[in-house]
Amino acid sequence: MVEDIEKWRKACSISAVALNHGINLIKKGAKVIEVCDAVDQKIIELGAKPAFPAQISLDHTAAHYCCPYDDKTVFEAQVAKLDCGAHIDGIPGDNAATVDLSGNNSELVKASRNALNAAIKIVKPGIKLSEIGETIQSEITELGFSPVRNLSGHGIAKFELHTKPTVPNFNNNDPNELTSGQVIAIEPFATTGEGIIKEATNSEVFMQLSHKPVRDMTARQILAEIETYESLPFAKRWLIKKFSPVKVELALKQLQQLNAVKGYPPLVEQARGLVSQAEHTILVTDSGYEVLTQNQNI
Ligand code: CO
Repeated sequence: MVEDIEKWRKACSISAVALNHGINLIKKGAKVIEVCDAVDQKIIELGAKPAFPAQISLDHTAAHYCCPYDDKTVFEAQVAKLDCGAHIDGIPGDNAATVDLSGNNSELVKASRNALNAAIKIVKPGIKLSEIGETIQSEITELGFSPVRNLSGHGIAKFELHTKPTVPNFNNNDPNELTSGQVIAIEPFATTGEGIIKEATNSEVFMQLSHKPVRDMTARQILAEIETYESLPFAKRWLIKKFSPVKVELALKQLQQLNAVKGYPPLVEQARGLVSQAEHTILVTDSGYEVLTQNQNI
């Protein structure tokens, strides 16, 4: 059995409650930033910390959109994806769901959800990663959409949100097998576009890569704050609660040049297709699987 299983279950249950809370707040006219803050706040209220800042990616943005501090965006008739997770002592949960506010993309939402459900059902020790990918691909294409091939699910470990294995969203012929005790996130993305995403500009999500000595006083203070996130991703606007936007901007630029910090820009579908996403964190057990982000009893 995986180490710290009770912490995994609790972090993942809190992630699930926070996701559900956020999904219920996504309505036309609501402010995106307020929903993101409410999700992060819910995680803290429930005794955990955000494993990464809550992210809401709209329409052709597939992932990694995180609000700038002065974001005024309100929800319109869009396809809205909420991705969030909680951690307890570095043990993270990761889950996501899509809300269709447009009223005419329910099939697209269904495609990623069906793919997730079908993929989970085949999880057991010995199943090949390519078989998971194949299942996701066929569920999505059956409804007339494309899986996003260069986004994938992933292993999850303590203080490591993304680790091996890569869990593909299409049959990539990976013969590697799942093993009992692994924790993985399965996250199919379905699109009306080509199924390829590319990086946009303007990162709002960052992560510390290493500890580097920094001369500049402000950058040093900001780095000390960044270290409290313990190598997990953080939002630029979290820093702006404590330091001025100009100082944060300059410090992040310096820290990125030193390779001490990395930015994660929003990921957009290259043909500007609409994108839906569904995600759960799953424990591979001897007999099959346990969906850790399904249980909302904390
Ligand atoms: Co994930």
